[in-house]
Order: sequence, then structure tokens, then C-alpha cells
Amino acid sequence: MLPIRIRSLASSLMLGLGLAMGSVGALAQTADCNYIISNDWNSGLTGAIQITNTGSSSIDGWSVSWEYDANRVTNAWNTQLSGDNPYTATDMGWNGTIQPGQSVEFGFQVNKNGGGSEVPEVTGDVCSGSGGSSSASSQASSQLSSSSEASSESSSISSSAPVTGGSQCNWYGTLYPLCENTESGWGWENNESCIAPSTCSSQPDPYGIVEGGASSSASSQSSSSAPASSSSSFSSSSSSSAGGDLTFESLRNLVDFPIGVAVPAGNETNSIFDNDYEGNGQRGVITQHFGQVTAGNIMKMSYLHNERGNFTFGNADELVDWAISNNVGVHGHALVWHSDYQVPNWMQNFQGTEEEWVEALREHVSGVASHFAGRVDSWDVVNEAFVDDGYRTDSIFYQNMGERYIEEAFIAARDADPDADLYYNDFSMENGQPKFDRAMTMAEDFLQRGVPIDGIGFQFHVFIDWPSTTSMREVFSRVVDLGLKVKITELDIPVNNPYGNDYSYPDNYIAEYTDDAAQRQKVRFCQIVEAYLAEVPPAQRGGVTVWGVFDSDSWLIEQTFDNNHDEWPLLFNDDFEPKPPAQGVGDALMGMPCQ
Ligand code: XIL
Repeated sequence: MLPIRIRSLASSLMLGLGLAMGSVGALAQTADCNYIISNDWNSGLTGAIQITNTGSSSIDGWSVSWEYDANRVTNAWNTQLSGDNPYTATDMGWNGTIQPGQSVEFGFQVNKNGGGSEVPEVTGDVCSGSGGSSSASSQASSQLSSSSEASSESSSISSSAPVTGGSQCNWYGTLYPLCENTESGWGWENNESCIAPSTCSSQPDPYGIVEGGASSSASSQSSSSAPASSSSSFSSSSSSSAGGDLTFESLRNLVDFPIGVAVPAGNETNSIFDNDYEGNGQRGVITQHFGQVTAGNIMKMSYLHNERGNFTFGNADELVDWAISNNVGVHGHALVWHSDYQVPNWMQNFQGTEEEWVEALREHVSGVASHFAGRVDSWDVVNEAFVDDGYRTDSIFYQNMGERYIEEAFIAARDADPDADLYYNDFSMENGQPKFDRAMTMAEDFLQRGVPIDGIGFQFHVFIDWPSTTSMREVFSRVVDLGLKVKITELDIPVNNPYGNDYSYPDNYIAEYTDDAAQRQKVRFCQIVEAYLAEVPPAQRGGVTVWGVFDSDSWLIEQTFDNNHDEWPLLFNDDFEPKPPAQGVGDALMGMPCQ
């Protein structure tokens, strides 16, 4: 018996070794390789290839290929791309390891080149497990719901960092290390972001703490991910304002119009691309909760076009590519804005006739809008052109071109990107002030004369007690009646109203983010979104965007308030935990009462 047993052990060992050795040459052959169309427009599309390890051992390094008839790749991210149809995409090192059950994904932009939206076969040694071919799936234009589907399965975990053994946190589909010395929220240990075990475990199933980065055995203490009730729990911590559990998993997935957020990028303080606490925390919040980003600054004129004819798109491209590869849309802000600091010097010093000015303006608008064509959902074409019921005379554009500059900008934008929605954007229109009437007169005139315009953007830098939701409803419905889209573009709500009767600094102002302040803010955010949903029919909803990810990064602190005191005007605290206002927005989106 013994010799036989030894022999069979030996042969199964040999077999095992043979298989293992075979897998070095031919790789594990156990991955599904999916070609996904994530966004599709007339002349192009963005796509992704997702490689999911369906085997039981890790994949260490991957390379996949595909070939089109007419389509061609114009750029790709999160992969090293070689070849020119056929293409070969190879891992970047940091995303080369795929643990069993996990996926990695890379993205690319395609010019259709006169063809349709092709879905080619994806081949490669790792893909052979599914018969050597890919299974194609198209998620075109369903970007707002697709990520929830993907992220609700444990097999779609993507790793933000190289995967190592031991326990990790599956944070809504992305793996992060667990903190050892941080009690709650996000931490910063060993030079990288980590998530405290208690915060990790508070996610709904199937997320939470995972062993070895593979399976997802979340010890869930949170409420159900189904939007069933509005009872959430929030608590204050010493370091940050109240954060806590939401009754839903993701804001963006509650509705099918964009829920957006303004972000710092490029060289800005707190750039979302910084590899630190704020960068990682923001990226986590954005991909979980927001379906659209607006560049808070880096797509303004001076950032993109500081020398006539010489555009610097690098930082903005990084943001737009990152957004697209994470299934997040982009609202462009802003093609034309008079505000001093961001009108490029060459424009400020430009001496020319009205026609020469128009030519220069067109060059700017077409240069920018054509560069991002197909990659942005919409643009604020002109920002803040009116003051009360007249044109803003301190605008260099008005001074040199008169009112004509506004329509010239809209026409150039439409020519350069026929698919993007074009907005006129302004502040203090929410109360139906004269400025709103002036913008309506312009919009009616544009519609009558065929000047392209798709919507009105209301900035919504509003206060806790002003203006009334009745006024908001009225202005929304007037825009709706014109057949235009309505977008809330820059929503934030400070806890103090510096113009309010009760406010006086330093004697009488809200200096702490108390439960009461948070509760008032929660109801206020909820009522604004409720008013939006009540007045704006689905086809005219351009979306709701908040102006910043986390409280202490808000522009308001420096802009509006005495002594730069805190205002807690946003949805997430400095530990990147949702605050009561996030629940308030969710309640409104779920059609629940604001309370
Ligand atoms: C603000 C940015 O948030 C700040 O970082 C910058 O210093 C000034 O501009 N209305 C707008 C935005 O349309 O562009 C402004 O953004 C906020 C007011």
C-alpha cells in the first residue's frame, strides 16, 4: 500500500508542479476579460477592460490584446499600451497582481473613425479561462447606475494599492490597509492612507474587513444598504464634525441624474491626486458618492490658456481621464469668466478692435471645448455676466465686446462640442432677484434667435435661512417652462449667515458644529434637493453639485467669513465621513420627508 500511496502522492505532486510550471508559461488562464463601453457619443466612446480573476491562485502580471475594424484608441490610462491595432495593454506594476475574486480595470478613449461602437474580442493568456475570448458588455450611457451594480459584487474589488496578505478593508469595492493606531475614520500610517477597523466594518454587506484581500466577510454593523428608512446615526469626534452611518450606500446611485462635487486637482492644495490623507480620502468619497466632478479651479481660463494659442491641458486631462476611468462624469467650469485673477494676462493686456477681441475669445472657447469634446457632459459657458438687472460692466469682455461676447461664446462652444450641454451660470439668482430676470430675458432671446443654450446653472451659495424654498421653486419652474435644463452647480450651506440679523462676530455666531447646527443643515440641504425634484422634471435635471468634498477645504472659509472661522458647509467631514447633511440630501433623493 505504502509504495503505491507514495507513488500517487509523488505523481500528484508532479502533476501539481507541472500545472504550476505550465502556469508560468501560459499564466493561470482563469480570468474573465470584459470589454466595457462606459460612455458613448457620436464620434467616440470611452471604454474599459476589466480582468477578473476567477481562479483560486493569484495572477501576477497580465497582458491583453484586442483589435478593431474601424475604431482606434486615442489614449489609455492605468495601463501601458503598445501597438496600433491590434493593441496590447500590459499592467503598470502596481495593478499587476489580481487576487482570486478580484478585478482590475484600465480605461481608454476611442475614436470611432466612421465605424460603430465596436466591442472586440479581448485575448491574452490570462483570459483563456473563459474560452480564450472576452465576454463583452455594454454599459453605455448608464454611467449613473453601473458602478453600483459593479461595486455590489465582491468580485469587482479593485485595489488602490498593491495587495498584500493579512486583513484589509474592502471600502465599497476598493481595498485599503486597515489602520493599527487610528480609532475611527481614515488614518495615515506607514506613509499611506488606512481605514480604522470600526469605520471599515460599518459599511453594509458585502463590504468590510477582508482576509488576505480576497473574500468579503464584512462584519456589518450598519443599516441596510436598501434605502428603506431614514434613521441614521451620527456622532461628533474630537477631531472632526459629526460623521456617521448613512441609510444608503451611495448618493449617486439613488438617482439617474448627476450628483456632483467640485474638486481641487493639479497643483492645488488638497489636490485629489495627492497621495496623502486628503487625496486618498477625497478619491474614496468621490468614487463612492458622486457621479460627476467639476474642477473647482483648474479648468478656468488662466489655468488652461496662459499664453495666446498655447494651451496647457495636462492637469485638467489628468482629472478628466481619472474621472472617466472611474465612471464619473465631468461638468466643465468655466469657459468665460470675468473674475480678475483668472483672466489670463495676455487677455487682460490685449489691445484690439471688437472683432479682434471676438476672434481671441473664440480661439479660447473653441480651443478648450474641442480639446475636451466627448469627455465632458456639460460646460458653464459664461459665468456671472450680470449684476442686478444689467450687464456686469467690470468684465473685460463686456468692456471690449459689449453684450455680444456671451452669444459668441455659446456659439463657439456648440461648434466645438455639439454634444455637451451649455449652461449660463450665476450666483444670487435663487431668490428671483433682478439678476435672475435678466438671465431669463437673455435665455428667451437666445432661444428665439437660435443661439445655442441648454440650461441655467444656479450656483446656490445660499444660507441656512435664505432664500426661501418658495423662491427657489419659482425660479426653477420658470427655467423649466422655457424648456431649459436646471443645474444646481455650486451648492454649499454655511452654518452662519453673516448677513443675518442675529449674526455678529465675535459675540454671536455659531462657533461649534453642534448637533443642532448639523440638524438644521441636514433639513436645509434636504429641502433644497426636494424643491429641485418637485419642480424640475427628469428630462430637465442637469444635476446637483456641491462645492467641495470636505468641510475644511471649502472656499467659503476664506471668502466670506470674519476671521476665517469654520462653517462646515459641505456633506463630508475632515475624516471623510458623511455628515447629517449627506443623509439629508439622500433623504430628498429617496423621496423621504426632510426631518
Ligand atoms: C472659487 C474657488 O472655489 C476658489 O478656490 C477660488 O479661490 C475662487 O473661486 N463661483 C464660481 C466659482 O463660479 O468658480 C468660485 O470658485 C466660487 C464662486
